[in-house]
Amino acid sequence: MNSNQSGNCDRTQNNTFAEQPIGIFDSGIGGLTVLREILNLMPRENMIYLGDTARVPYGIRSSETVTKYAMENTEFLLGKKIKLIVVACNTVSAISLDTLKKKTDVPVVGVLFPGAEAAIRSTRNRRIGVIGTETTIHSSAYHRAITSLNPETEVLGVPCPLFVPLVEEGWTDGEVTRKVATRYLEGLKESNIDTLVLGCTHYPLLKGIINEVMGDGITLIDSAVETARVVGEILKGAGLLRKNDAPPERKFFVTDSPDRFRKVGERFLGHKIEYIEKVEIPVI
Ligand code: DGL
Repeated sequence: MNSNQSGNCDRTQNNTFAEQPIGIFDSGIGGLTVLREILNLMPRENMIYLGDTARVPYGIRSSETVTKYAMENTEFLLGKKIKLIVVACNTVSAISLDTLKKKTDVPVVGVLFPGAEAAIRSTRNRRIGVIGTETTIHSSAYHRAITSLNPETEVLGVPCPLFVPLVEEGWTDGEVTRKVATRYLEGLKESNIDTLVLGCTHYPLLKGIINEVMGDGITLIDSAVETARVVGEILKGAGLLRKNDAPPERKFFVTDSPDRFRKVGERFLGHKIEYIEKVEIPVI
């Protein structure tokens, strides 16, 4: 085959590969915050979303269990012939990203590092707060990522475990949620941070209340926006952005009843979820 023919062959192969969906997984509904930003940036992409709603929350589990679930979810998505995996879950990104990267040649993008980079770009006084699940905060993964970018930075982490069930329940505003947020965030509010990383997929759904409690002087970092940008850069760099004008496919898979996921998910995404299927994830 001459070089021109092989060039054509590569292009044809790339076009076929570009048609393959982006796979994205989270422990539940929170990863839709990441999906939404990816769809905003790359509306033509085919997408497969897996929400492990039967086993949520991950953020109170041991590292071994989180990694086991993450490997199983990754295996499920790889079976759907995806071209890139987005680990929308902060807990998995904090604990298991390197293990997952070793498992496959498909690019694997986590949400933690893009958020850490954005926090460093935002801070003026080098005092950054991070909120997340217990497992994420106790892993110190954000602390390591942020200080690897600027060792002079002070990082204050606070776990906010009740935020996840509140969001899963659809309680993204109202008095109860405001009280919980005030209780969790009062220490950070006093601590002279100028930037707060929403280090959990579910927390951008509480942005309004968190903003209200923290006050205007504090920049909230939503890792979802940054992660979408990184995904776009990787696909563009590899020539794998989908160019086809045919309507994209969006498929949602959940491991528990689709009803609640559909209700909260549609409200959050702002459009109908057409295809949703309950699946069993094979145990490794
Ligand atoms: N997806 C998880 C995260 O971003 C939050 C929900 C959970 O605990 O599973 O950390």
